[in-house]
Amino acid sequence: MPPLSNLAARDVETLVHPYINLAAFRETGPLIIERGQGVFVYDTEGKQYIEGMAGLWCTALGYGNEELVEAAAAQMRKLSFAHLFTGRSHDPAIELAEKLKEIAPVPISKVFFCNSGSEANDTQIKLVWYLNNARGRPEKKKIVSRMNAYHGVTVAAASLTGLPTNHRDFDVPLPGFLHTGCPHHYRFAQPGESEEDFATRLAAELEALIVKEGPDTVAAFIAEPVMGAGGVIVPPRTYFEKIMPVCTKHDLFVISDEVICGFGRLGTTFGCEKLGFKPHSLSVAKAMSSAYLPIAAVMVPETWYQAMLVESRKIGAFGHGFTYGGHPVSAAVALKAIEIYQRDRIIEKAAKRAPLFQARLKALAAHPLVGEARGVGLIGGVELVADKKSKRPFLAQVGVGARVVRFAEEEGLIVRSVAGDVLTLSPPLVISAVEIEELFDRLTRALDKALDWVTHGHLAQV
Ligand SMILES: Cc1ncc(COP(=O)(O)O)c(C=O)c1O
Repeated sequence: MPPLSNLAARDVETLVHPYINLAAFRETGPLIIERGQGVFVYDTEGKQYIEGMAGLWCTALGYGNEELVEAAAAQMRKLSFAHLFTGRSHDPAIELAEKLKEIAPVPISKVFFCNSGSEANDTQIKLVWYLNNARGRPEKKKIVSRMNAYHGVTVAAASLTGLPTNHRDFDVPLPGFLHTGCPHHYRFAQPGESEEDFATRLAAELEALIVKEGPDTVAAFIAEPVMGAGGVIVPPRTYFEKIMPVCTKHDLFVISDEVICGFGRLGTTFGCEKLGFKPHSLSVAKAMSSAYLPIAAVMVPETWYQAMLVESRKIGAFGHGFTYGGHPVSAAVALKAIEIYQRDRIIEKAAKRAPLFQARLKALAAHPLVGEARGVGLIGGVELVADKKSKRPFLAQVGVGARVVRFAEEEGLIVRSVAGDVLTLSPPLVISAVEIEELFDRLTRALDKALDWVTHGHLAQV
C-alpha cells in the first residue's frame, strides 16, 4: 500500500465512515472527492470519474447546476432559517408541499417534512401506530417489510431494513417488525419457477405470515418499488398485482419507499407508477433536491390526516417534528429541482436513454464474472458470481465486489458494491448517451481486470 496523503491520514484519524470495514480502511484510506461538474467528479489529484452512482442514488441533476446554487443562495439571503413548529410557516415549505401534492401518483392530503430517508420512514411507522391508536385498534401495530430491503438506519427504519449488516450487534430489528420474502427471481425462485409463479408464491407467503401473526396485529407493508441498496432487485412480473390484494384483504396500509425510485429513476416520476401499484402513503428524499441539500418528506392521504386530527385533538398536540424539517433553503432548492425536472422534461428524456443503458447493462451478463445484470430505467445491478452455472457466489473474504470497485476507480468510474457482491449503478438522470457508453466501457475494463485477478489468484475456487 502506498503511504496515505496528508489529508487522507487526517481523515483516518478523525472520521468514522459508514459502510466500510473500519479496520481495513485504516490501511486503504479514503477516496477524497474535491469537486464535480455534470456527471463527473474529480479527486484531490485532479483525476476525473464518472459518478456512476449519482453520489448515493441522489444527484439526479448532476453537479454544478447553477440554478440550484442560485435558488439556495437567494433563499439564504432572504430567510436562512424558519421552522414549522407550533404553527409557524414559510413560503418555500408551503409551495413545495403544494407541488408534491400536485405531482403525487395517488391522492395526497398533506406533506410532513423531514431531513433524510430514515427520518421519513421512521415517521411513517410512528404515523401508522398513531393512526391505529386514533382508530381504536391499538393491537394492530406490526409492520411487514422484506428481506434485503433498505429503509434506513435510525432505530425503526433499521428495523424495517432487511439486511444483516444493519442489524447485527445493533440489537435491531425491534419486536413487531416482520420480514417477508425477497422478490429476487434469480436467487430465490425454485428451479423452473416462472416469474409469475414466483410472485404468486411470494404473495401467499406474505398472507401466511399475516395470518400466523394475526391480521388484527399487522398494520402496514412497506416496499421500495425496486430495491436499491439490497442489490437493485426488480420484482418479478405481477408481484405488486398479487401483493396488493393481500394487503387490502387484511387491512394493511401500504407505504411506498420512493427514496431512490422517486423523481425519475425508473423512468416515471414515482417508482410505484412504473411498477403499477397504488400505495396509501409515500416517503421521498434524495433526488427531490438532487441532493444539493438534505430534505425528505412523508406524503399522506386524507384518511391518515383525519386520524391525526382525532389523536392530536385528544392529546393536545401532534408531538412529532424535526428542527430542520422543511428547512426553507432545502425546500427552495427542492422546488427549483422539481421545476427543472418538469421544465426540461428530465424524466422523459432519461426514460428515452434507458433502453441504451439497459442494453449495455444486460450485455454484461455475458462476462465470465457476472451471474445476473438487472435493472430498469437508469438503475442497474451486476451480481458477481464465482460460478455462473450454479450461481455460486464468491466467498465473502475474497471481496470481489470491493475489488471491482477499486479497478473501476482506476478506470475513472465510481460504482458501489453492496452485500452479495452486487455492483450498483445509478448515474445522474442527466447522463448523455455518449456518457452512458463511456460508463459501460470503463466498467467492462474494470471487470476484465477483475477477471485476471480472480484467474491468477485462483479465487473462484471453493
Ligand atoms: C429506499 C431507501 N429508503 C431509505 C433510505 C435512507 O435514507 P437516508 O440515508 O437519507 O436516511 C435509503 C438510503 O439509501 C434508501 O435507499
